[in-house]
This record gives sequence, structure tokens and C-alpha cells, in this order.
Amino acid sequence: MSTLKGKELRIVGFLCNWCSYGGADTAGVARATQPTDLRIIRVPCSGRIDPLFILRALFNGADGVLVSGCHPNDCHYSEGNFYARRRLEVLKQFLPVLGIDDRRFEYTWVSASEGQRWKEVVTTFTERIHALGPAPVLEDAQALFRVADMTLSPLHALGTGIQAPLEELKSAIKSRLPELDCVLGWQQGHDAIHSVPLFMRSPEDVDKLVWGPLNVNNLAVYLPSLKGKKTGIVVKGCDSRSVVELLQENLIKRDDVVIFSMPCEGTLDMARVMQKLGSYKTISQTDSDDKGITVTTDTGKHRFDMSLWAQGKCYGCATPGALLADVRLGTLHPVTPAPTTPPELAMLDAMSLEERRSFWKAQMDRCLRCYACRNACPMCVCRDYCVSDSRDPHWMTQDDSANEKLFFQTIHAMHLAGRCTGCGECQRACPVGIPILALRQHIARAVGTLFDGYQAGIQPKATPPLLGFEVQEKNIHEREWK
Ligand code: FES
Repeated sequence: MSTLKGKELRIVGFLCNWCSYGGADTAGVARATQPTDLRIIRVPCSGRIDPLFILRALFNGADGVLVSGCHPNDCHYSEGNFYARRRLEVLKQFLPVLGIDDRRFEYTWVSASEGQRWKEVVTTFTERIHALGPAPVLEDAQALFRVADMTLSPLHALGTGIQAPLEELKSAIKSRLPELDCVLGWQQGHDAIHSVPLFMRSPEDVDKLVWGPLNVNNLAVYLPSLKGKKTGIVVKGCDSRSVVELLQENLIKRDDVVIFSMPCEGTLDMARVMQKLGSYKTISQTDSDDKGITVTTDTGKHRFDMSLWAQGKCYGCATPGALLADVRLGTLHPVTPAPTTPPELAMLDAMSLEERRSFWKAQMDRCLRCYACRNACPMCVCRDYCVSDSRDPHWMTQDDSANEKLFFQTIHAMHLAGRCTGCGECQRACPVGIPILALRQHIARAVGTLFDGYQAGIQPKATPPLLGFEVQEKNIHEREWK
């Protein structure tokens, strides 16, 4: 075989013990000639393969990764390969946004009796990887800085929510407070341009409640840790999707949560706002009107119109009101339904694989590994057992390289596949402003394409696609190997 000539490449194969490993054995016993590049790791079932395994191999320098399990309907554990099929397909569609050629990863099904098929699979895949050549190394990429174009038309009118019925909201909370352990909202932070989470336990606390474009935090992040307590929460539309997703995954109980909904008109992009304000010492005044806010500091007056200074996610927001609420206040602006690609994702779409690698190299060189993105994410609920902190198994080194930091981001993004509601807290919390939401948006788009337009956090009764399967998948098809 031509692939046997020249230098071997590093190809990792994850093979199910019950079928594909037997198939490889059958090919060996039959003395079928095969390329020697593949290094096989035997796993009990393809359902055991976490995308983390594949990503770790690729980030550690594998030139290709092949997964092979039992044919659909033949899994020794009945359903393992059905779950695996969804995960592996989503992973395959995710790789290009990182600048990794998706042809470097493939999955298939080979039974124990199919020695000939195994030979075809391994030969074809090895030839493909040889044609692609050694995998490019992220650390060797030239750093590329690029900023997304934020000149967008919002799907609904952006404003400051100055007309929103804040006093009505306070009375509604006060009337429900006796039956609740606490209610989550926002209060003014250390100065008039910041607001911070507020835990209301008494009517005096409720008086501190504020509403407006400075209420950037998604308070749903606190709900899982308050499980078992009767909790109220004030939500913007995007926050309510996180609450719905937490309900879908049974991470909170509907009976324990009282949802107060206010009509959201957008939130400010605080990273850009703070950059414009520069190093001020004091804020003497803030004035809000329908269209924006004016901040007077010791350095002068600064105007922030919502149409120019809102967070990127607010321009594409189609859910300004809560999807699920017990108490609804105020009136919503109408939404123009129009398909839209978020700005950072559109920027990545327009890049080549090489440019994406260079882009992420530049971004990850700035990452501090502070894990603020993880800590702010309302769907990142296993943080006590996070792969980034685990020493047994030790998935991540303490290496301060772009490669290791991007590996963490890919794991975070894959853990959110079909679960991310696009609230953007990861990106907002990032102290150096890395556009990591784009990774989650890319996966969310792939999940929508594969699973009938599924969007996380919309339907309280829906099962997230990666927690289920169809025996006959409509949009996932076995690939030809000849
Ligand atoms: Fe082979 Fe499940 S046992 S894929």
C-alpha cells in the first residue's frame, strides 16, 4: 500500500471491545495488509468515548483520530453507540471552528466478523491523513488579531427600560417574600455604572432593587446551589432560557422557583463601556433616557446609546421577555423575526482554517486561565469536579500554553453542546474580552442543524438532544469508506 511508504503519522484509534476490536483482530488473523500508523485504544463501548478523549489526542499532537464501534442496533449495551453517534457528529462539526480540519477525525461501525471492512476503513483513513500531512501545531501559528463588526440591526428596539414598572416589581416581590427563602435581583454596585447581584430576604433588601441596562449578570447561575430552597428570581428573557434549561435537566425543581419577568430592552457591553470611560476617579451623575445613558465623571460627560453600546447577544435577541414566568410585568417591544448570525461567529465563518488557528492562538495567548468563564456559566454545574481541576484523572496540565488553554475552552464548549442558551456570561466575565461565546454559538448552530432546529432553554419539557437519540437519525448518515 502506498500509505505504508515513508514516515508514519500519529493516528489514534478508539475501538469498542465487542465489535471493532474483534474486527481488527479478524483482519490480523487473516493476515490482511494494513497501514501501521494506527495506535489502538480499546474501550468497553463507543458510548464510553467522551469527546474529551478525542480532543485530548488531537491537542496532544495526533494527526488523526478514528473511532469505531458496533453497528447501530448491535451495541452490547443496547444503546451506547446511539448516544455516541450524536456526540461524535457534533464534535466533528465543531472542529473546523478551532481551525482543525474535520477530516482528521472520523467515526464508523465495524463488527467482529468484518475483517475486510476494518482493513478498508483503516487503510482509507490512513491514506486520508497522509494526504493531509502532519497536523499543524497551534503554538506555531502566527497570532492574528481581528475584531468582529458590531454594526448590526437589533431584532427588537433597544433601550434602557426606563419605563419598566420597577415599583410594581418591588411590590410583587414583597408580597411573595414571606413564602420564599430569598429572591435574586440586582442592586447598584460600587458606583453608579455597575450593578451586582442582590439576594433579597427582607422588604428592606427589596428597596435596593434596580432595573436597567447595567443588570448584566445572569442570576440563574445561583439557582443550582440553592436547590431545595424556595427561591424567587427576576429574569431578563435570556436569563429565563437558562432557568428553563436547568428545569429540563432537573437541576432545579419548578415548585421551588418563582420567576418574576420584566421586559428587557438590552444590556450594556460593560467591557467596551469601561474602556471608553477610561481611568475615572468619581462619577458625579448618571442620566438615563429612552435611548441610552449619560455618565458624568471627573474626566467629562460620556454618552452610551443602547443602539451602539449593547452586548452583541442583545442585537440578535428574539426573547426579550421570559419564556416561563409566574409574575409578568410591563409590556414587551415587538420582535422582528429574522435569521441572524452573531457578529463573532460571522467573523469566524469568513476565515480559513489557518486564519482560525491564528485567531485562537492570539486570543489564547491573552487568556489568564482564571476560569471566570466557567464560573459565570449557569449551565456549568460540575465545577467541583471540573476536568480543569481534576488531578485524578489529570486531563489538563498547568502549562500556560495557548494549546492547553484552547483545550479547556473546547471542553467547556463541548460540555455545553445542546445546553448553551447563549446568555454570553462566559464572554462577559472574561477579564481580557476573549470572544469565547462564538465557540458555543458554533456548536449551538450545529446542534440546531442536526436536530430539527433545536434551541436550548426554549421548551421546559424537551430533552436536550445529546441526552437522547433516534434509532434512525434524520440528519446523521454513515459515511462511505470506499
Ligand atoms: Fe460496541 Fe456499545 S458495545 S458500541
